[in-house]
Amino acid sequence: MRNQVTSPGPAIESKIRRLLPVLHRWYRDNRRPLPWRVDPTPYRTAVAEFMCQQTRVATVIPYYRRWMRIFPGWRALARSSTLRILRLWEGLGYYRRARNLHSLARAVLRLPGRELPDDLESLRKLPGIGDYTAGAIASIAFKIPSPAFDANVARVLGRLTAKGGRSPRLPYLRCLAGKIVPQKDPGLHNQSLMELGALICLPRNPLCASCPLKSRCPSSRRIPGRPKPPPPVPLRETILLVKWGQKIWVTREHPRHRWKGLFLLPTVPGKPRTPRLLTIRYPFTRYRIQADVHWSNQPPAGIKGRWMDPGELRRAPLPSPHRKILRLAGRD
Ligand code: ADE
Repeated sequence: MRNQVTSPGPAIESKIRRLLPVLHRWYRDNRRPLPWRVDPTPYRTAVAEFMCQQTRVATVIPYYRRWMRIFPGWRALARSSTLRILRLWEGLGYYRRARNLHSLARAVLRLPGRELPDDLESLRKLPGIGDYTAGAIASIAFKIPSPAFDANVARVLGRLTAKGGRSPRLPYLRCLAGKIVPQKDPGLHNQSLMELGALICLPRNPLCASCPLKSRCPSSRRIPGRPKPPPPVPLRETILLVKWGQKIWVTREHPRHRWKGLFLLPTVPGKPRTPRLLTIRYPFTRYRIQADVHWSNQPPAGIKGRWMDPGELRRAPLPSPHRKILRLAGRD
């Protein structure tokens, strides 16, 4: 039976509160020196939170550093073209985040203070900002006591409050996360929960022996090995590298509507008669894709597109597997 109680009572709340000084001290001593933790202005915090959604921190760091050099604040970001932003986002994936961040910069510049608002409700109304991001920005950049409840935090709190080996449901955990945020240093508190989830309280093989809360965690060393996630689904596709002198033909259409807003090498049905140039493999969501790339000197019928010369191609945003194809073909 699952724990059916929908909100945590005072006993649970105070049990977790008593753990917080140990957690916060562990965070101070063990936190990673991430670039956005230095001078966490609203802008720097928002960029980090957008980039960290669905992307590993190690991948984000070089993107974040380059972004701050090119767009040091809202104004520079708002003034940029969408294509340039997408180009700089290339390789991070989930490009909707980049478009949302651009819309956010433009929305911020329309606000009287030309800065993010320092209250949760107004933050929540801005482009790309959901409950988690609003809570993270409010607590880290404005020191407003508000939870930043994501999968890491849910896992940490779920294990700390598990009964009979089962974690409570998400609404219960979300409510608990809201109740335990301290008035002082809410940003440090939220980041210490995130950091424990990212470094110690891992989803599949948690490092309980190194956990600062191990003596008070009912799940310590009792977390059953979780079944492996299902293997990726294999998918084959054919991509054309259509050339005319130095120019390459690109489209913005994809048969599965992927990569909105980016320029793409055309993906076509069937197997072309022209020679195969190379094959690449790449992951995409739950798929493992094998793409056979064929030369062609004719754009495919029924798809809109245009020719691009090498300079334009270098500046245009392309999905990273397509960029890789150009590189392997000596076209980048
Ligand atoms: N993941 C999401 N937000 C983060 C942050 N501020 N620091 C580290 N990892 C994160």
